[in-house]
Amino acid sequence: MKFFISASILSADFANLQSEIIACENAGVDWIHIDVMDGQFVPNLTMGPFIVEACRRITDLPLDCHLMTNNPENLVDDFIKAGATNITIHPENNPKIIETLARIKAAGCTAGIAINPATPVEMIEPLIRFADLILVMTVNPGYSGQNFMPEVVEKIAKINHLAQKCQTPPIIEVDGGINADTISLVKEAGASAFVSASAIFHHPGGISRGVNDLRASLL
Ligand code: DX5
Ligand code: ZN
Repeated sequence: MKFFISASILSADFANLQSEIIACENAGVDWIHIDVMDGQFVPNLTMGPFIVEACRRITDLPLDCHLMTNNPENLVDDFIKAGATNITIHPENNPKIIETLARIKAAGCTAGIAINPATPVEMIEPLIRFADLILVMTVNPGYSGQNFMPEVVEKIAKINHLAQKCQTPPIIEVDGGINADTISLVKEAGASAFVSASAIFHHPGGISRGVNDLRASLL
């Protein structure tokens, strides 16, 4: 099975974004994860399409955009234009999710659904067949550096079971507190894409050691 490591630049040094992304690329990261927060859907305020556009000029790696915003339907076109590869949106507080997923796909991007720790699987069950990727949050979204919530592991397995019933099963991606210890737990539950911010950018041995340690735990 192919595993994807998605480096979340939320923990990158933004004064050196270019060299940090190139270090990720050299370390063999598969995707660059861009956490978009609007200060409303989640308390933090982070990056907009201009960061995606800057990343697009730095690297050819897929740009995995995670929108933690209200009304993502008003934003997706700008992210597509900026060079996003994948756009993941949340179903919570989002009555237009199916049409927004369709719009993302019609523009040639892949479309993902993210699910918060407190959101029941039943909420996304009817949506799974519309998505290329399901992003299971293992922290409450808003900040990097939070502790992994082990109680979500069971939910990953449940979602994976539902995903496997689809004609083209979506990728299961996990986000929050992923490090060399927790990555194997979520892999066992069926995840094949792993977002990590602190364990890559704040690894005491540097970015390449951070990525290598994650990769080694997947063997
Ligand atoms: C959390 C973001 C995550 C975050 C992960 O709200 O969606 O992508 O950057 O950070 P770590 O890996 O440090 O938990
Ligand atoms: Zn994220």
